[in-house]
Amino acid sequence: MTTSQSGTTAAPGALGRVTFLDGQGELPMLEISTPWSSAAIYLQGAHVTQFKKKDEPPMLFLSQCSRFVEGQPIRGGIPVVFPWFGQREGLGQHGFARVKTWDLKEVAPAPDGSVSVRFRLPACPEASDFTPFTADYLVTVSQSLTLQLVITNQSNDAEFTFENCLHSYFEVSDITAISVSGLNGLNYLDKVAHFVEQTETNETLRIASEVDRVYQNATGTVEILDPRFGRIIRIEKHGSASTVVWNPWTAKSRQMPDFGDEEFERMICVEAGNVASNSISLPPGATSTLTVKLATETLT
Ligand code: BG6
Repeated sequence: MTTSQSGTTAAPGALGRVTFLDGQGELPMLEISTPWSSAAIYLQGAHVTQFKKKDEPPMLFLSQCSRFVEGQPIRGGIPVVFPWFGQREGLGQHGFARVKTWDLKEVAPAPDGSVSVRFRLPACPEASDFTPFTADYLVTVSQSLTLQLVITNQSNDAEFTFENCLHSYFEVSDITAISVSGLNGLNYLDKVAHFVEQTETNETLRIASEVDRVYQNATGTVEILDPRFGRIIRIEKHGSASTVVWNPWTAKSRQMPDFGDEEFERMICVEAGNVASNSISLPPGATSTLTVKLATETLT
């Protein structure tokens, strides 16, 4: 890495600051502050647990009941889902990347005040069942939050097929008061109805029950309109053909030990990735980059 891992670092003249500390459960984490915003990232899972613009409510939802235990997923923020999404027989849900402690490779405060940090998924026994690959994750904190997951197939002769997803949990004022735009006309797998394929016919999606949908061939920008918070959260993406929308609602919330019974009221997951029929098959030596830019603006 390019800067010291202890104490507070900032490039000369820069206004961005990075602090290394023990977070909840004594898991190592970084706190980042910029002239416009602050963010928190745990090394376990390279997991962004918070992004907040000054004078705004947090952009990301983090459960009050989340575990902060080595090897167990954090509930909220942005889990990095890779190399598979959902259930895989005999293996855990959503891949192993979200529970591994990633190596911090670079901390780069820029003269304009933004801060970028780069992580790499270390070698681990679980990866040996896959074609050799590297996974890098670049997080840039500024007026917005930009995430880049870069997967390279390191094999000389084998394809690498995988799924990925940046599983963002967003903080909302009230789940019944928000709407989600950018999905109209897309086909989706409805996980609440045994993966039946449906077509989205609503101009904007309102949530009034459990929702768990994998929108396919969904490359466009999605927006969450939150009139009570007076803001729009914009999810802009590149290198992503799937959008997942999830809210566990009442019954499922009660089944999750690391999630409060009422917390579904103030969160929604809008996830960007490449899953199911949109999984990626990478030729030998090739690289795939998933980029997600999360920004907020005032809703008037
Ligand atoms: C979503 C899935 O992406 O993640 C849901 O579509 C799942 O089916 C949810 O319940 C949470 O998953 P987990 O493993 O973090 O509880």
